[in-house]
Amino acid sequence: MDWGLENRLKRIIRPETGRVVMLAVDHGYFLGPITRLEDPRSTIAPLLPHADALMLTRGVLRACVDPGTDTPMVLRVSGGRSILAGEDLSDEGIAVAMEDAVRLNASAVALSIFVGTRHERQTLLGLSRLVDRGQELGMPVLAVTAVGKELEKRDARYLALACRMAAEFGAHFVKTYYCEDFEKVSGSCPVPLVIAGGPKLETEMDVFRMARDALDRGAVGVDMGRNIWQNDHAKAMIRAVRAVVHEGATPERAGEIFEAGKAGAR
Ligand code: R5P
Repeated sequence: MDWGLENRLKRIIRPETGRVVMLAVDHGYFLGPITRLEDPRSTIAPLLPHADALMLTRGVLRACVDPGTDTPMVLRVSGGRSILAGEDLSDEGIAVAMEDAVRLNASAVALSIFVGTRHERQTLLGLSRLVDRGQELGMPVLAVTAVGKELEKRDARYLALACRMAAEFGAHFVKTYYCEDFEKVSGSCPVPLVIAGGPKLETEMDVFRMARDALDRGAVGVDMGRNIWQNDHAKAMIRAVRAVVHEGATPERAGEIFEAGKAGAR
């Protein structure tokens, strides 16, 4: 790995622990103003100091994030369809030039691949092109194994296939979903894996258990959105998730940290 590319990646996956808490706020690229992300600036600002990296679009980065921040940015560069597109949701392409990612001082670029859909070829070849440009310019590429509305696809067999293909096409790290038998997914993917949180779970403990299990089964961290910022106590939530990821906290300990954070204790 060239120095610049490795340096960028190590700004995201923290060398002290080999782990990462990414905060995902890119949902508007196909969902529009979803709950608690209507005003991205006010959602992002209080959480930014607690995130190892922020995943977002260039529009929100330019309009809503203070350029004085030290937090590394992971720029979503794929898109092209909205939630209204139904089964065509997978019809994504690369929507941002790599030069703009460099201009924005991004630490990585992210693109979704839709394995098993009729647009798998275009999204996989898009990943290849992005990796080619990333290698030229020292920019790591995060492949996101998107499942669209087909949540039933989130089993180990499918996700292992999609993650492995992402790595084979040259992704430097991969974002996927947590599933039963997650070790089958992580064990066959030769690059680091982070998990998305998915739609808001019923309780905070469900989130801490999912994060703990994913880390124990081979993930290097989380790239979590709704389960953090849709919580009424988002800052307490991200602190508790950090304890799971970076300090090896149990779900129970994370629960205590969350409760203390809610109460305003340190
Ligand atoms: C999808 O809209 C984005 O790629 C999100 O970044 C991803 O789904 C992670 O966010 P969440 O934890 O809310 O699923």
